[in-house]
Amino acid sequence: MEKIRTRKLSHALGAEILGIDLTQPLPADTFAQIYQAWIDNLIVVLPGQQALTPQQHLEFSRRFGELDRNESSPSYRMKGHTELIELTNKPTEEGNPSPSRDVGRRWHSDLDFTLKPTKASILWGGQLPDVGGDTMFANMYMAYEALSPGLKRTLEGMHAVYDVMASVRPQDNRDPKVVAELRELNLPVAQPVVRVHPESGRKALFLSERAVRFEDWTHAESQPLLRYLCEHATSPEFVYRKQWQAGDLLIWDNRCTIHQALGDYDKRQVRYMRRTAVQGEPSGHSVQA
Ligand code: SIN
Repeated sequence: MEKIRTRKLSHALGAEILGIDLTQPLPADTFAQIYQAWIDNLIVVLPGQQALTPQQHLEFSRRFGELDRNESSPSYRMKGHTELIELTNKPTEEGNPSPSRDVGRRWHSDLDFTLKPTKASILWGGQLPDVGGDTMFANMYMAYEALSPGLKRTLEGMHAVYDVMASVRPQDNRDPKVVAELRELNLPVAQPVVRVHPESGRKALFLSERAVRFEDWTHAESQPLLRYLCEHATSPEFVYRKQWQAGDLLIWDNRCTIHQALGDYDKRQVRYMRRTAVQGEPSGHSVQA
């Protein structure tokens, strides 16, 4: 069995795997090593996948599990594909602004505002601006483990209430139709603040900037602790900043990381990404707004 070659990308998380060509058949034992590297490093990057077709992207993604059909945000779907979304500032074929421009500008775990938060997301960089268009990732195992025993005890059993509207920052150029669609399709849910990763068995903090309060706490009571936990979790020592190259395929684990897409680039240049998401275990419960 040929062993894959990995290179760590930061102390906190991330590894690059070299020598993989996903346009060619991928033996089961090579996939098993990629999967284990992903569990161990939380995110893995497979560079050099410029020629990856949407079909090959889907086929590789399905090896991680059943794919999400993007019912919470149908406007981002790639034409003809329910399981692929396009994240881009490139205008549509009809010449309209892209509905997915400025997506993901707040720290989040994909679909944390639904009752089926995602297991994995698999993002392919098709076209990148000359500089910037980076994505930041934070290690939520480390964030949990660094908390005091007292705060860990307090958080155990607590739930945070998520509202999809909290992902929309006023300063972003979000499409009003998409914002209305997000509101209509996604009612508030509560998620446990600490989750046990089903594969590693480790506890991770599960919280993002889409959480608006703790369940059974008022908004005002919740704000200082929410702010503290998000700032703590995204401290530089827990974070890796991905500077994309065209052809990178990045797989992240939404059960133990959060991420944020930066708008740090010249919007006259095109950033074009395609993404699949692998369904996770059901989690949380519905709540009143
Ligand atoms: C996201 O999944 O939140 C978007 C990531 C990115 O475009 O870098």
